[in-house]
Amino acid sequence: MTTTPIKRRVLTGITTTGTPHLGNYVGAIKPAIQASTSEEVESFYFLADYHALVKCFEPERVQQSTLEIAATWIALGLDAERCWFYRQSDVPQIPELTWLLTCVTAKGLMNRAHAYKAQVADNESAGEDEDLGISMGLFSYPVLMAADILMFNAHQVPVGRDQIQHLEMARDIAGRFNHRYGELFVLPEAQIDDHVATLPGTDGRKMSKSYDNTIPLWLPEKKLRKAIMRIKTNSQEPGEPKDPDQASVYAIYAAFATESQRSEMRQAFADGISWGEVKQQLFELINAELLEPRDRYQELISNPQQLETILQNGAERARADAARFIAALRNAVGIRPLSD
Ligand code: TRP
Repeated sequence: MTTTPIKRRVLTGITTTGTPHLGNYVGAIKPAIQASTSEEVESFYFLADYHALVKCFEPERVQQSTLEIAATWIALGLDAERCWFYRQSDVPQIPELTWLLTCVTAKGLMNRAHAYKAQVADNESAGEDEDLGISMGLFSYPVLMAADILMFNAHQVPVGRDQIQHLEMARDIAGRFNHRYGELFVLPEAQIDDHVATLPGTDGRKMSKSYDNTIPLWLPEKKLRKAIMRIKTNSQEPGEPKDPDQASVYAIYAAFATESQRSEMRQAFADGISWGEVKQQLFELINAELLEPRDRYQELISNPQQLETILQNGAERARADAARFIAALRNAVGIRPLSD
């Protein structure tokens, strides 16, 4: 038997609770699709719908978001045949692994999770019971996330800075399992790309669902233009020189522009371009990039069966890989046929 060299496995998930926005596109989806074309890596991109249930109790919204996020990846050119593209809930080995990991995870480790601690602190400052509104799903969220990663022995996990602690927890959990049962898991690493832009939102803070300052990725042209025109600027007049590094509109422009477009725009700022004109150019730049994918997106959204088929194909491959590994893991912990 010949052994094929193991490619570096890169894995990331998107929680299916919202509508994709420009920040998701620039910060995560676009670089991930680019990375997936490399010969050196195997890419795993999945829809984290079990994670969605932790914070979203609207079934219609979970379904709609799953549809929109799946359509987004495909419309933007992800080649689902070439990488691993699947929905978390289609791979039952992931919740199975979650239990195996839960049994090696220290409760004290989970007590230290930022998201959980923040909620406890909120409860305390509101004079409420510290456990108010905290489900076991929220508490053990990092174990499910560790299972997502360890199920496929991913080496690298591209995530935002807010997820670094979850990656440290996944390493800790993997290490404990390996210590107890043998070296079965790769210890994953967070991959924080400093070149990838964190996009400001319409109010100047980081573009994020939780600040309600996002620009949805798939707005029709007119609405996209309107949303861009609403981005906050200062009161400087046309003709006054402006500082691009203090302007959200420039930061967003820079994330879409080429090197030479960026330096032209910086010059225009120095020459006193009006805010209205910057926004018009920003709109044209973003719109040109999204024009073709937007048509594909609309077509995919109106034909969900096509996406369902893509996800089912991905799930079949993911399950086959996961089933082989889970068999070894079950054996390691002592869940074995009695005849063995
Ligand atoms: N928790 C991640 C987020 O909110 C989403 C996620 C779930 C994830 N499972 C993952 C990311 C595994 C990377 C790897 O952004």
